[in-house]
Amino acid sequence: MSQAIYLTGITTTGTPHIGNYVGAIRPGIAASRDPSKQNFYFLADYHSLAKNEDPDRIRESTLEIAASWLALGLDTDNAVFYRQSDIPEIPELTWILHGMTAKGLMNRAHSYKASVQANVDSGSRDPDRGVTMAQYSYPILMAADILMFKATRVPVGKDQKQHVEMARDVAQRFNHHYGEILVLPEAVIDDSTAVLAGLDGRKMSKSYNNTIPLFAPEKRLRKLIMKIKTNSLEPGEPKDPDDSTLFEMYRAFASAEETAAIREAYADGIAWGEMKQTLFEYINTHIAPAREAYESLIANPERVEAELKRGAERARALAAPYLADIREAIGIRPLG
Ligand code: TRP
Repeated sequence: MSQAIYLTGITTTGTPHIGNYVGAIRPGIAASRDPSKQNFYFLADYHSLAKNEDPDRIRESTLEIAASWLALGLDTDNAVFYRQSDIPEIPELTWILHGMTAKGLMNRAHSYKASVQANVDSGSRDPDRGVTMAQYSYPILMAADILMFKATRVPVGKDQKQHVEMARDVAQRFNHHYGEILVLPEAVIDDSTAVLAGLDGRKMSKSYNNTIPLFAPEKRLRKLIMKIKTNSLEPGEPKDPDDSTLFEMYRAFASAEETAAIREAYADGIAWGEMKQTLFEYINTHIAPAREAYESLIANPERVEAELKRGAERARALAAPYLADIREAIGIRPLG
């Protein structure tokens, strides 16, 4: 079999938070540095339109996400790092794939079904109320992202697994009709990556408004960590580390030895205030060098733009000839 090709897409909504860092950014960056792996990373800015973000937020989020990955050391010589909207071949392939996508397949998408269910539950007469075509055919754009670069392995969270399977279904149908042209992808789900809780103890997520931005300035980082929910146990009383957001966060950053030491401190009744201060100092020290690089990139967005343009050139050098083959296969050809 030929070499595995990995592809990771990041929707440009929101500001990266420490949950994103631990769950996706950190493992993604480690993979980008592995010379034995062929990796594509891109900012899915057309996907963000499906969420009706406001234009300024899309631009800001694109810059923040790109600057975060770069500041943390994404290896952009080894991996290809680009912005979806810089690759016109992707929306072109999206339309081509529409012809090979059953409407019924899209009807079965979890996120679409959830919107319909919410309408039904609220007693609306139109089950499709508020659903745009961008939301509806979101999985086809995602299939094009994946198939455009012949990706075989797509690391995603559980919520995106179905989309990768749909890309596979569409590619299969395409190949059945036009010949073996598209490469079938597979989702890679890593259950070992940590899912962090947020300030209120629920899963850290933009939609719960309980996040800690990865590159919050030092003072704000401290303030947010001080807000993390704890129980009312007093200093000196033994505490359960396995039921503690503070401990879970500490463990996500610290070594096994350091974590074991904190586990003991819990048994010895460390005060919540002291634990918060310890956690703040640990994360702050860990993040500080990258935060400086991040702030410098945010202040000089043209440097980020240049990186993305370079990545787009590399990506298009692969996408353009492949799309030409695909057009040929489907009969979109010169007449003479
Ligand atoms: N839909 C993905 C998400 O919300 C982002 C994404 C867009 C993606 N295109 C992709 C992920 C292609 C993997 C492959 O997380």
